[in-house]
Amino acid sequence: MSFDFKVADLSLAEFGRNEIRLAEHEMPGLMATRREFGATQPLKGAKIMGSLHMTVQTAVLIETLVALGAEVRWVSCNIFSTQDHAAAAAVVGPNGTVDDPQGVPVFAWKGETLEEYWWCTEQALTWPGGEGPNMILDDGGDATLLVHKGAEYEKAGAVPDPSTADSEEFEVVLKLLGASFAADAGKWTAIADRVKGVTEETTTGVHRLYEMHRDGKLAFPAINVNDSVTKSKFDNKYGIRHSLPDGIMRATDVLIGGKVAVVCGYGDVGKGSAEALRGQGARVIVTEIDPINALQAAMDGFQVAVLDDVIDTGDIFITTTGNFNIITADHMSRMKHQAIVGNVGHFDNEIDMAGLAKLPGIVKTEIKPQVHEWRFADGHTILVLSEGRLLNLGNATGHPSFVMSNSFTNQVIAQIELFTKTGEYPTGVYVLPKILDEKVARLHLDALGVRLTELTKEQAAYIGVDVAGPYKPDHYRY
Ligand code: NAI
Repeated sequence: MSFDFKVADLSLAEFGRNEIRLAEHEMPGLMATRREFGATQPLKGAKIMGSLHMTVQTAVLIETLVALGAEVRWVSCNIFSTQDHAAAAAVVGPNGTVDDPQGVPVFAWKGETLEEYWWCTEQALTWPGGEGPNMILDDGGDATLLVHKGAEYEKAGAVPDPSTADSEEFEVVLKLLGASFAADAGKWTAIADRVKGVTEETTTGVHRLYEMHRDGKLAFPAINVNDSVTKSKFDNKYGIRHSLPDGIMRATDVLIGGKVAVVCGYGDVGKGSAEALRGQGARVIVTEIDPINALQAAMDGFQVAVLDDVIDTGDIFITTTGNFNIITADHMSRMKHQAIVGNVGHFDNEIDMAGLAKLPGIVKTEIKPQVHEWRFADGHTILVLSEGRLLNLGNATGHPSFVMSNSFTNQVIAQIELFTKTGEYPTGVYVLPKILDEKVARLHLDALGVRLTELTKEQAAYIGVDVAGPYKPDHYRY
């Protein structure tokens, strides 16, 4: 078999395959979907373009989609998050060799430039024979954005003008679209028309989808995987509880105990972050704009402050908001010597890296990849992790397999739903039915030795549910 792909080093495939094998044991939900749906092949005919961190766990997701009949092309949704051994193993596949890869086309390596990142995204959206995918599996919405932007410009008959871009990254997107217009007019409209739907992994991508739908711009239906309870209340919280301190430690080896850590945002990711840092013995301060979350943080025992008031006391600053301009260049210039600054919200604009780079007299020193010391004109320095991008993936290996099994089982179920029941989902944004959410949780109980109590018929009738579930109304918050 021969196919196009671009990864760092195929010879890492054996290492990747060994880690995938270990991960499979920790991903019972995904392996159960292979057993349940392997024979019926519900994804036969699906051409899934995936844009999601190319990690070991994602390789297990990819091979599950393939086991269910799908054809897959893949990219990372972040320039630093690829694990090169996982990418190599996904290309080689379980039955291939380095000389005869039999897996899937992956376009991803750790440390892409922005130009390379968007080039990879376009490659994965370009099926051999000129066709595009008929399904997208997205994380953060970049693949969805490229297809929508391309189709919008085509429909308007306008040539994208990079000089109108409001960010360096969007300038790259507009350049790429301009080049693809010249080569293949109508490409993006054709992809948008062919795609049956997208399943979106994260809070930030979901936010974009609801906005597009509100503005009448959404071109195909979407399933919001993030808001399955077994995704956001697990991956966002318990996943970050593991991978945030992992990233800080691998990057800096600084003792977290006794330090003052400031966590911006107390949503699901913020809750996991604050708990993890407290678990390491840090004194944690939270910032919030939402009175409900602020009150939750206070009730959980955290000081809640505004960033300006604690900017010179914090030793570690972590953004988790999904919002932008949370830590400004001015904030950074007022931090303690060697304060650590990192972001675990989806995009890098939570920390004003562009503003930092423009400060007069600022000097950047690479300590090691994804760890930079920035020296201010007065001589004091701060450490910025992963250039302001997701540090838990840039400095560590992201969330561990078990929690990602929950997220990715939702992804597989959502792909099957949209692909096989397309007619039931007019263009809009949906969450999976609660019974499927409960099923995902159920698939992970045995591995942890959880023994679930069964309702009696009488008890079920008393609380007004079915013995087999769902057990809660849709508005229940967990
Ligand atoms: P969320 O909506 O539950 O929490 C965000 C919180 O930030 C909200 O409570 C909001 O009120 C608060 N916030 C907004 N602006 C603020 C400001 N200026 N100052 C202080 N607080 C502010 O969202 P969730 O699920 O916690 O996700 C947060 C981000 O993390 C998103 O970008 C999401 O895509 C990303 N994410 C990252 C993961 C990772 O592996 N690093 C995993 C899952 C999600």
